[in-house]
Amino acid sequence: MFKKFTFRKQKASSFNELVEEAKKGYIPNHIAIIMDGNGRWAKRRAMPRIAGHHEGMKVVRKITKFANKMGVKVLTLYAFSTENWKRPQQEVDFLMKLPQEFLGTFLPELVEENVQVRLIGQRDGLPAHTRESVEKAIKATQHNTGLILNFALNYGSRDEMVYAIQNLVTDSNSGKIQPHEITEDVFSSYLMTSSLPDPDLLIRTSGEIRISNFMLWQIAYTELWFTDVFWPDFTEEHLLEAIVNFQRRGRRFGGV
Ligand code: FPP
Repeated sequence: MFKKFTFRKQKASSFNELVEEAKKGYIPNHIAIIMDGNGRWAKRRAMPRIAGHHEGMKVVRKITKFANKMGVKVLTLYAFSTENWKRPQQEVDFLMKLPQEFLGTFLPELVEENVQVRLIGQRDGLPAHTRESVEKAIKATQHNTGLILNFALNYGSRDEMVYAIQNLVTDSNSGKIQPHEITEDVFSSYLMTSSLPDPDLLIRTSGEIRISNFMLWQIAYTELWFTDVFWPDFTEEHLLEAIVNFQRRGRRFGGV
């Protein structure tokens, strides 16, 4: 059996008090989440895997609202990797319909809550209906100033870096940039996350302790937090627990 959630509400008597206490500390600017465990969540209930993904979609809504309330600036969610195309076609088709369903239902709410929708990943590889629904949401929320809800769809970090290098070489060949001018910052500016800060905190659910080709460059100094909880069971309390744990860590970025 996987471990039960053990965050104890010790000092404060209510969840809201804990939230307020955490908000007095440093809130991670950018939280990235590998939303894992949908399939196992469904299997435990003798349900099809897609039922787990559907439940996971509802958690996206809940966690987005809560992250916004906590004052997180960017929430990047790994919704579909460049490797996920290897899954059964029926599951891929379902996953590709989820952004449409999610945004079809919750876009007005996201607009109202001042959330900006963004996308990283190779757009060209997405079915038109998926791409169009996300692009519509990006457009509808582009002037919002609250939380950036950044979906990683058809995203792979190695793919992103290869794409960045192709563009750098093209710019170098055309004389736009000289090789000695390529610094870490310049390389970052060629990535799909160019306008975003690096994640402060990376969360992976479901007990797997790996990164799975997610933001490899960007997480060089990111704090990692792993939980056994399956994504469909992930709650505001779990996110708060991760944030409080993050606040207790001493980040030295290689210094002393
Ligand atoms: C990994 O769990 C999860 C995914 C590949 C998909 C994640 C997608 C969502 C949570 C919904 C996204 C919602 C929107 C709005 C885009 P898994 O299927 O690998 O789980 P398993 O390891 O237990 O099989």
